[in-house]
Amino acid sequence: MKFFIDTANLDQIAEAQALGILDGVTTNPSLMAKEGIKGAENIKNHYKKICEIVTGDVSAEVISTDFEGMIREGEELAALHPQIVVKIPMIKDGVKAIKYFTDKGIKTNCTLIFSVGQALIAAKAGATYMSPFIGRLDDISTDGLGLIADIREIYDNYDFDTQILAASVRHTMHIIECAKLGADVMTGPLKAIEGLIKHPLTDIGLAKFLADYNKGVK
Ligand code: G3P
Repeated sequence: MKFFIDTANLDQIAEAQALGILDGVTTNPSLMAKEGIKGAENIKNHYKKICEIVTGDVSAEVISTDFEGMIREGEELAALHPQIVVKIPMIKDGVKAIKYFTDKGIKTNCTLIFSVGQALIAAKAGATYMSPFIGRLDDISTDGLGLIADIREIYDNYDFDTQILAASVRHTMHIIECAKLGADVMTGPLKAIEGLIKHPLTDIGLAKFLADYNKGVK
């Protein structure tokens, strides 16, 4: 499973990249706003900075909701850097835009997926990635991980190439369950990724090894 970090924070992206296990970055307009990045030019420059930090795919989201606007914006974003993946919402014009970019060989990430029907359409349009928001489904007492399982089954039935990018991942158990279900990618916060590393027995074991080493030294 690929690990993407879901943030526009450059320090956190650099920290995740330094771990050596980062495969890419996802952003959205809310994450950009959280970092205080405003205006089209500043946002584009920020995407370029992210691409300079990481080696993998970087999702950059369009804000237009009509086909022509998405194409114009998506082409501008794709031209910024070869690592850019154009992130497009699951709406009718978005589906058309994904097909357009697929035919042009430009990578896409179909975002705001909340149902298997939407997942099926994203794959039919040829999206490179599609992002089911599991945390937001859990927030309304709906099984986000169940959606990942259902999409995996359907995609495997037909050998769709579209990668399941589990998004709105909130904690370590989401990551582990996504891996068990066969999600191709997960995108989550640095805290959830680092949470996978921690185990109290590791800390206790290491403390004992170091204490025993120091005894031997004396
Ligand atoms: O990748 C989608 C993600 O940013 C949404 O996460 O936590 O706002 O539901 P969240």
